[in-house]
Amino acid sequence: MNVEVTWYGHSTTGITTPMVKILIDPWFTDNPMASAKAEDVEADVIVVTHGHSDHLGDTVEIAKRTGALVISNFEIVTALEQATAGAMHAYSGSKSEGLTKLHALHIGGGHSFDWGRIKLTPALHGSALPDGSYGGLAAGVLLYLGGVRIYHAGDTGLFSDMKLIGEPGLDVALLPIGDNFTMGPDDALQAVKFLQPKNVIPLHYDTFDLIAQDVGEWSARVDRKTGATAQVLKPGETFTLE
Ligand code: NI
Ligand code: MN
Repeated sequence: MNVEVTWYGHSTTGITTPMVKILIDPWFTDNPMASAKAEDVEADVIVVTHGHSDHLGDTVEIAKRTGALVISNFEIVTALEQATAGAMHAYSGSKSEGLTKLHALHIGGGHSFDWGRIKLTPALHGSALPDGSYGGLAAGVLLYLGGVRIYHAGDTGLFSDMKLIGEPGLDVALLPIGDNFTMGPDDALQAVKFLQPKNVIPLHYDTFDLIAQDVGEWSARVDRKTGATAQVLKPGETFTLE
C-alpha cells in the first residue's frame, strides 16, 4: 500500500493512503511557508495536536467545506462543537449546522476506524485555544495505516518515553526541530535515537526567524549518527512509502 506524506510547511502535514486523506494541524492561512491554500486542500480526516493557532489553523473552514471528521483531544473537540454551533446559531438560527463530525480522544487512548487506527501520545507543550480558552493537554499522534506506522510529534520538548512510542517500530517520524517553542536540533537528534524510526521528516522550523535552523546540517547528523534516514522536504513536497 502506498502512503504519501506531504509537508505543507510548519507542522502542516498531509497523509494519503488508498483509504483516506488525513490532514494534521492544517495551518494554511497566514502560514508564511504554506505551499497550498486552505480552500484548495481535500481531507477526509483532520487531526489537531493542540489548540495553538499555528496548529488549529484552518480546521473549521476545511472541515465545513469538505465534511472531514475532526479528531482531537476532548477539550478541543468540545470547544469546536460549541464555537461552531454558536457561530452558526447567530447566523442561521439553527444550532444544527456547526461541526458535527468530531471524534474526541485523549492521551494514551486510541480508536480504530475503517481506514486505520489513531492514538494520541504525550507531548510536553501547552494547548490554549486562540481565544484563550482551555484546550486540554497538547498531544502527538500515532497512526497505524495498514502495515505503516507514522508518528507526528506535534509541538513538544524531548522526553524519554519517546522510546516507548517507537517500540512498535516506526516507518516515519515527523519531529519539530525549530527550537525556542519545541525541541531544537540537538534534542530532536536525541529524539530520533529514542524513537528509532526508519525515516524522519523535520517540522516546525524556518517559518519565522525565531525558529530558523540549518536543516541540511541537521539531516547530515541524523544520517551519520542514527539508523534513520532524514527526508528533508520543501513545502509542498511528498515522501512516498511503498
Ligand atoms: Ni504550539
Ligand atoms: Mn507550534
